[in-house]
Amino acid sequence: MTKNDERTVLVVDDEPGHRLMVRAVLEDVGWKVAEAPNGEKALAMLDAVQPHVALVDMKMPGMDGVTLMRELHARTPDLPVVLLTAFGSVGSAVEAMKQGAFNYLTKPADNDELAAVLEKSYEYRRLIDENARLRLPQDEAIVGGSANIARVRELIDQAGPSEATVLILGESGTGKELVADGLHRASVRARKPLIKVNCAALPADLLESELFGYVKGAFTGAVKDKPGRFQLAAGGTLFLDEIGDMPAHLQAKLLRALQEKVVEPLGSVKAVETDVRILAATNRDLRADVASGRFREDLYYRLAVLEIAIPPLRERLSDLPLLAGHLLRKLGKKNNKEIRAVSPAFLEALTRHNWPGNVRELENVLERALILARADVLGPELLPPQLAGLAGSSCPSGTEGGAEAAANADTTHAGLEDAMEDAEREALVRALDTYTGHREKTADALGISRRTLQYKLKKYGLTKR
Ligand SMILES: Nc1ncnc2c1ncn2[C@@H]1O[C@H](COP(=O)(O)OP(=O)(O)OP(=O)(O)O)[C@@H](O)[C@H]1O
Ligand SMILES: [Mg+2]
Repeated sequence: MTKNDERTVLVVDDEPGHRLMVRAVLEDVGWKVAEAPNGEKALAMLDAVQPHVALVDMKMPGMDGVTLMRELHARTPDLPVVLLTAFGSVGSAVEAMKQGAFNYLTKPADNDELAAVLEKSYEYRRLIDENARLRLPQDEAIVGGSANIARVRELIDQAGPSEATVLILGESGTGKELVADGLHRASVRARKPLIKVNCAALPADLLESELFGYVKGAFTGAVKDKPGRFQLAAGGTLFLDEIGDMPAHLQAKLLRALQEKVVEPLGSVKAVETDVRILAATNRDLRADVASGRFREDLYYRLAVLEIAIPPLRERLSDLPLLAGHLLRKLGKKNNKEIRAVSPAFLEALTRHNWPGNVRELENVLERALILARADVLGPELLPPQLAGLAGSSCPSGTEGGAEAAANADTTHAGLEDAMEDAEREALVRALDTYTGHREKTADALGISRRTLQYKLKKYGLTKR
């Protein structure tokens, strides 16, 4: 990782003298410089060097600079490429800019200008990395390698940017709120507020005034106007959680708000226009509630323009290793404690449990274990009571006495790391296949940064895929 903390430039030029000069100038201002005499060599060393910026001569024997730039971008789309052109061929440099060069310099480049242009390109690169993080804070990634979860992510990508109302279905703790966050972030409303209302948490009267607001004097205690969440969400997204628990008369009022795009604050005769996108979630079987008359059919169809159903964790146990890894990283940050791996016995118990509380339950199990752990590997003795019996006979979970337990831990250690690595490689391969090798999507799916992905691909010899 240390290599990547230094800012690195890849200089591609067929003239050794010019490479030498550039190296001297750039090293002087703190760059790490990697050199290649032609395009083929540059591409071959790309994975090893992982440059932040590439400085490429336009005219080289063999692959020319613009072709090399295209090849570089095919592999690392965000890499800023600065082209060096001979004096007088600025026309073709401008053409190259249109094709995606970050900037160009005429040769021989002025030292200060060279340093300044590279500095800018580095800043640009950092901005892109930051934006990527803004788009998808890693702790909020929807992790899982199963086809089910891949489908959920795909639906978010497709439905996110649209204005469609989305109904998110799933048992408690399956990640409904996480999906709502993802949809909002993927929308054009991402920079506007995402306002959440839990329809099950408030008594009916309060829910009504929270949603639609009220005017002064609407009821005793209404001493001034109060905007509802509909108004607070203006321009953004309103997430109606536990919509299945909304009382009947509010269902009618909500339907009207959705159809006519206006709300009437309590005590007011004036309708207020609203501009919100609605997302809703429930752990109830809404169709059944419609059939039994508990939930309005017309409202159901308004809400379920698109449905995203998140399957319970017990139906996608193959997600467990990835989820556990992701959650342990997240919890590790929160608790300031690093866990490197889980033991095979611990993992086995996880796969035997039926997870009525889904991912939230998993998160709790892991947090408890992480807090109690005395080493950086989670053993079966750290399982909570509801899972303790599931760890299998190979691991005496009640074993006490330090020396013996420590010796046991040591002998299982090598095997454990192999097992974790096998699982990790497997997950990488599956994610790469799902996203046909697209690096950014693969990294997002796995909940790791692109740099980490790059590193792991190299580690497992998967870079050529
Ligand atoms: N696929 C996933 N990848 C990563 N984290 C997840 C995933 N699914 C759920 N989580 C995490 O599990 C916890 C529970 O998720 P969330 O609150 O979104 O569930 P929910 O369906 O809204 O639950 P409830 O019905 O109880 O409100 C959160 O901390 C969330 O970040
Ligand atoms: Mg929730």
